[in-house]
Amino acid sequence: MSGLEGLGLDEWLVKQCQAMGITKPSPIQTNCITPILEGLNCVGCAKTGSGKTAAFALPILQKLSEDRYGPYALVLTPTRELAFQIADQFKVLGKEINVNVIVITGGMDMVRQGQDLTHKPHIVVSTPGRLADHYESCDMFSLKKIKFLVLDEADRLLEDEGFAEQLQIIFKNLPEKRQTLLFSATMTPAIRQLQEASKEKVFSWSQSSDMMTVDELDQRYVLMNADVKDAYLMHILDKYTTERPKSSIIIFTSTCKYAQILALMCDDLNFPCVSLHSMMPQKFRLSGLTKFKSDQIKILIATDVASRGLDIPTVDLIINHNVPNRPRDYVHRVGRTARAGRGGMAITLVTQFDVHLTKSIEAYINTKLTEYATDEKEVLKLLTEVAVSRRQAEIRLDERDFGEKRQINKRKKLLLDGKDPDKEEEEKMAKKKMLKKDSDARNQKKVEKEERKEKFKNKFKKKVK
Ligand SMILES: Nc1ncnc2c1ncn2[C@@H]1O[C@H](COP(=O)(O)OP(=O)(O)OP(=O)(O)O)[C@@H](O)[C@H]1O
Ligand SMILES: [Mg+2]
Repeated sequence: MSGLEGLGLDEWLVKQCQAMGITKPSPIQTNCITPILEGLNCVGCAKTGSGKTAAFALPILQKLSEDRYGPYALVLTPTRELAFQIADQFKVLGKEINVNVIVITGGMDMVRQGQDLTHKPHIVVSTPGRLADHYESCDMFSLKKIKFLVLDEADRLLEDEGFAEQLQIIFKNLPEKRQTLLFSATMTPAIRQLQEASKEKVFSWSQSSDMMTVDELDQRYVLMNADVKDAYLMHILDKYTTERPKSSIIIFTSTCKYAQILALMCDDLNFPCVSLHSMMPQKFRLSGLTKFKSDQIKILIATDVASRGLDIPTVDLIINHNVPNRPRDYVHRVGRTARAGRGGMAITLVTQFDVHLTKSIEAYINTKLTEYATDEKEVLKLLTEVAVSRRQAEIRLDERDFGEKRQINKRKKLLLDGKDPDKEEEEKMAKKKMLKKDSDARNQKKVEKEERKEKFKNKFKKKVK
């Protein structure tokens, strides 16, 4: 008997899993599927790439097959691409029962989505913003009878202030009696509190492990001066792709603008790539991702919009062009490789200003990053070429009014929210100035402290000699 059958799953689902290469349940599946089938609310926490999607999709599909109506389940996720991916998984797993799944996200035709919602699909997979927009603009659909609410990447959805208002609109339109399932690779104290405060019985399962990241992941860093970071990036790309020409790489960076600059530079320096960030029109987001997933393009340059949930088995290297501010984001970014038992590597570019942040990541994941060997002489040879390429990329971006368009969109949104854009901007600048002053002072203090330590060490060494 297959391990999946032992969990109480029907034969048709077990067969479908087998057809997808899922023969043995992963620990989160072994532990969470039965309680969900038994009707419990569930909080599941397991490492990236450990099969959380099937852990909630399988029991939902089984229950749906016993009582077919729609809308039966609502799945919320923080990003659009993840919503499409989860919908695809539901469609494949639920093929046998002809499951009707729709995706409701921003960047797509709202009228068409409105029609889809009124056709009573079995499963609705959505990002919170667009679903809230539908509630506010029409009353032709209802999710009052759903049996399941899933929050995938629950910590991000519940703790990101940007989602709070939208979730409130959605939650007040859902039935009180339902099963709620929360899943993520990183759970936070707030979620645990929420769980404790719940009146209903909640089944909770967390993978116990010393480390937050998977054993199969090789985690490296490269230390460099901030001024030469781009040259190091190109050197690493060159070295890694020469050693492994078939590799697929995701480069994470801090902002949309930076992602765009890096993409132009990579193209210019003979590293064909696609990018993914929130300033791109949705059709380019999806088409770029499709090219990357289908291996036509080997490099994806993305902001954190791609850090959660995306499952692209071919990815074998993650490069953190910036050190993420929150250790949790590091865990999700590097989790785009080394999935479902495969190997992978993550290289984080660390400058003199990021040492402290890197240490806090190491403390959070309970692992030390090891150094990735680079050749400084080779980097120096690239400096001029990379600097020229960067300048050209910046000019091209200015010509496309990249920053300006963003400003216009922001101002529009503020006006729609009934705020004064100029006043908001003034307040923001004042706050930014203050924060920068504080952070500069802190960084300076850190650098001085490191220098003092180094001096002391050298003095001590001399004395010992
Ligand atoms: N029991 C299993 N055996 C083998 N492969 C599996 C199993 N369950 C799921 N998979 C595969 O593992 C991959 C990762 O699954 P999934 O995307 O659900 O991970 P996840 O835990 O949600 O990760 P993340 O935290 O990054 O969202 C998918 O390609 C999925 O098809
Ligand atoms: Mg997932």
